Amino acid sequence: MAKKKLNVGLVGYGFMGRTHSNAYRQAPVFFDLPYSIGLKAVCARNPERAQAFADNWGYESIESDWRKLIDRKDIDIVDIASPNDTHHEIAIAAAKAGKMVLCEKPLGRNAKEAKAMVDAVEAAKVANMVWYNYRRVPAVVLLKHLIDEGRLGKIFHYRTKFLQDWTISQDLPQGGEGLWRLDASVAGSGVTGDLLAHNIDTALWLNGGISEVVAMTETFIKARKHNLTGEMTPVNIDDASLFLCRFANGSLASFEATRYARGHKALYTLEINGEKASAIWDLHDLHRLQWFDHTDEGRLRGWRSIHITDSDHPYMKNWWVPGLQIGYEHTFTHQVADFLKALGEGKQAAPTFRDGLAADYVTDAVLESAKSRQWQKVLG
Ligand SMILES: NC(=O)c1ccc[n+]([C@@H]2O[C@H](COP(=O)([O-])OP(=O)(O)OC[C@H]3O[C@@H](n4cnc5c(N)ncnc54)[C@H](O)[C@@H]3O)[C@@H](O)[C@H]2O)c1
Repeated sequence: MAKKKLNVGLVGYGFMGRTHSNAYRQAPVFFDLPYSIGLKAVCARNPERAQAFADNWGYESIESDWRKLIDRKDIDIVDIASPNDTHHEIAIAAAKAGKMVLCEKPLGRNAKEAKAMVDAVEAAKVANMVWYNYRRVPAVVLLKHLIDEGRLGKIFHYRTKFLQDWTISQDLPQGGEGLWRLDASVAGSGVTGDLLAHNIDTALWLNGGISEVVAMTETFIKARKHNLTGEMTPVNIDDASLFLCRFANGSLASFEATRYARGHKALYTLEINGEKASAIWDLHDLHRLQWFDHTDEGRLRGWRSIHITDSDHPYMKNWWVPGLQIGYEHTFTHQVADFLKALGEGKQAAPTFRDGLAADYVTDAVLESAKSRQWQKVLG
């Protein structure tokens, strides 16, 4: 019997538009899912470019106004892969129209926006998810299982960073296509919402809630030409953000993100230290988990590097044969697969909008603490 088809309307054809489109094409092929996916429409303001994207990825139609996309009866899932300032309005309208809503991170530019988005999807009772894709790296999922099995014992430390170097040049403008991340009115914040939001979401998932934070941020380049006006305009994003925090489980943590770490392009790392074991994961080597188990026989005890490619590793039986690794794009494919599987079971796949709000509460507290130079309680 043919599976019920769910039609996607994608907003935005940039970096994330591509990762999501690839995931919609791959997930039903590699996973046994209760639904099939129809690539129904892609929406972006420039119709020629939207059409070229639609032709390339196999979307049936285009829209140049997201409101029209939401009005369409033939769209089941609205997928928001456009800049942060668009998430709030599109998600709320989509939920009110009864669509399922998938939204890129950060959920809102701040927790206030995110809270309204949570209220909208929960009132409409529509399935919802935030694309915090690092929760779907097989090595990170294995770590989650090891933590949940109690193999680390009591957790003492969590240590994480996300380093890039692409904004060091004073001549780099802000605003407009490709550079909206430097414009605080569009992005909400700088590296706190863009990069640290990922570290925060993974940490909340692995290690539980964060109770309080103390942070410092810096804007190294204070003014840049704005692409939309041609004027030199103050830069209002944080270029670097560091914070310390306490988790509800009593562990202490440090978080750091910057776009000024020369030589680093997307160095997301995390380390967790427990009473019985420690683990390290690194995005540049994403198919490995470094693992130290103190309960091993003393003579043989040491750090081991687990190659996460075996069929008993998370998601891996759906891919190739043991020894052959997968990469970044698969995290999005896993997310689509999990979303559809959960939907088929009448459940809600995480991270939901409510989980996205939890990350926004932390980023709000980080930015507030950096401003006040005081410890800040995390709301929520
Ligand atoms: N999950 C992740 O790892 C990850 C990685 C990168 C970006 N993101 C998030 O994804 C979102 C998009 O980022 P990106 O890197 O793909 O950006 P991008 O600049 O590559 O693409 C943005 C797209 O949105 C379109 N767009 C802008 N305003 C629009 C509007 N009003 N209506 C319709 N389309 C509009 C643009 O034309 C473009 O196609 C952001 O929220 C970002 O934070 C998440």
